[in-house]
Amino acid sequence: MVHQSVKPKLVILISGRGSNMLSIIKAIDDGELNASIVAVISNRPHAPGISLAQQAGITTSFVDHEQFTSREKFDQALAKEIDLYQPDLVVLAGFMRILTTEFVEHFANRLINIHPSLLPKFKGLNTHQRAIEAGEKEHGASVHFVTPELDDGPIVLQARVNILETDDATTLAARVLEKEHKLYPDAIKLLINQ
Ligand code: GAR
Repeated sequence: MVHQSVKPKLVILISGRGSNMLSIIKAIDDGELNASIVAVISNRPHAPGISLAQQAGITTSFVDHEQFTSREKFDQALAKEIDLYQPDLVVLAGFMRILTTEFVEHFANRLINIHPSLLPKFKGLNTHQRAIEAGEKEHGASVHFVTPELDDGPIVLQARVNILETDDATTLAARVLEKEHKLYPDAIKLLINQ
């Protein structure tokens, strides 16, 4: 009899281009990450990452936030959609929505996010520009558990880059993103205990 090991199930949430999602798909395809992506869900029906996930043969769906009259109603519908797949880990990968406490608590201890700064520095948006303007010598990305407060939960892993004199927000973002693409699969691996 053949024993099949049960792979931890991931649901990935995206809003846009999905390059972090692709790095997780690649890590699984390359045998570096022993997990299964059971669905990619977007709040934007036309997110470019959705067609990339489809091309990779992954189940996709969307819950369009514009169809809901409140943040609470959207989050409830999104939670319901995610629950269909019974994931071990819900992975926010460029998912650009503020989540309600109710949603965060529903997925407590299995909801993670990647943020483009060395948290607790530079929570929120425009992190690269703000790091340059603050005269930082170092910048980077963080994977953290999501808690009700924005960009505030316990850190799983971080990756660092030096800020160069010649950097602008675009060049810095590109170097941080390259780090993100290794960081996120590494962090997931750590959490699913491989
Ligand atoms: C990434 O840089 C990610 O860290 C950031 O959005 C980008 C998404 O890129 N996330 C946030 O700013 C979350 N607050 P991707 O769609 O190519 O993965």
